[in-house]
Amino acid sequence: MFDKKILAERTERMGSSAIREILKLISQPGMVSLAGGLPAPEAFPLEIIHNLTHRVLENYGVSAFQYDKTEGFGPLQEALAMHLKKSGIEVQASEICISSGSQGVLDALGKILIGPGDKIAVEAPTYLGAIQAFNPYNPQYISMETDDQGLIPESLEETLKNHDLKFVYLVPTFQNPTGRTIPLDRRKAIAEIIERYQVLLVEDDPYGALRYRGEVVPSIKSLCPQQVVYTSTFSKTFVPGIRTGFYLAPPFIQQWLIMAKQGVDLHTGTLNQALAAEYIRGGFIDEHVPEIIRLYKPRQEALLEAMDEFFPKDFHWTRPEGGMFIWVEGPRSIDIMKVYEEGIKRLVAFVPGRFFYTNPDDGLHTMRLNFTMSDEATLHSATKLIAESIEAAR
Ligand SMILES: Cc1ncc(COP(=O)(O)O)c(C=O)c1O
Repeated sequence: MFDKKILAERTERMGSSAIREILKLISQPGMVSLAGGLPAPEAFPLEIIHNLTHRVLENYGVSAFQYDKTEGFGPLQEALAMHLKKSGIEVQASEICISSGSQGVLDALGKILIGPGDKIAVEAPTYLGAIQAFNPYNPQYISMETDDQGLIPESLEETLKNHDLKFVYLVPTFQNPTGRTIPLDRRKAIAEIIERYQVLLVEDDPYGALRYRGEVVPSIKSLCPQQVVYTSTFSKTFVPGIRTGFYLAPPFIQQWLIMAKQGVDLHTGTLNQALAAEYIRGGFIDEHVPEIIRLYKPRQEALLEAMDEFFPKDFHWTRPEGGMFIWVEGPRSIDIMKVYEEGIKRLVAFVPGRFFYTNPDDGLHTMRLNFTMSDEATLHSATKLIAESIEAAR
């Protein structure tokens, strides 16, 4: 009865994502998947959640189940202010707003900032979920160049010289999909450029806490606070199912983000926010994040070792100090979609990298591998099968 005529013009741009079609194939029985981007269920602290549930009922009673303010549940804003101080971010509780995951902030930013044809600068490759959030508003994407150290500051400057941008979107730490982290000297250069051009930067940081080696790098937000919307989430440090994230934004932007959220869901679930508040207040986050790292670090090492053992010499990949992904680049002559098809025949899956580019001709020779969802032995055998798929596709 209904067809496309009933849809708003923007709706068709939401499209069904090609990656979701790929993920459907992967649900076949027996398939080993390095394709997803989920945290490991073994990393979910069920014992702690039992305890948190009691604490929430005792400390907040009915108010954990009542409507609440759009900005966020007060005790969570306060707990986050305390928690962020430890990582060098000094903010008042009222400056921290709670969102339904970081995804909720990306959606709201699209809604309040992007009009048809507005220009947004992104890393090539970039986070697919951001593109999905922004697409309905019909922006024009300007891809910036990256290398092993993430965004190249000169490419940002060139982009700002040539284009009038609405904002720049970056995942500077353990990026999805590449795992790359922008080092401090580049962050300083980026902050300086962003300030000089007076442009807004969106810094998306879901993975920063998952560090397995190396030194913590300060956020770009801490280098130029007035120019940056910083967002992070409990999805990777607690559980994604509570759909609770947060952001810090310049006051003018914050006010409109709150207004946009009011129309969407009034506020993020109070019970979920109360659980997150107690997770911080009880010190559980400081105890549990190291447990998550203890689970993921050997998985990442197992994948990297297996790649060293099985992958062909003309392939190169990132060696991230944290996060959930390894990014692989083959020679330009290889079509990774063919490798993907060979992989499916062998019951192993990954995501072809082309889906993370805004330009459809880019990244045909790349792939993203996830290591959080499989144990070390599975990662070893899956890597061998992917290497065989590469040979079969040549
Ligand atoms: C870069 C990036 N941003 C945002 C998100 C969304 O996270 P959340 O669960 O907080 O909505 C993800 C999830 O994988 C991500 O990789």
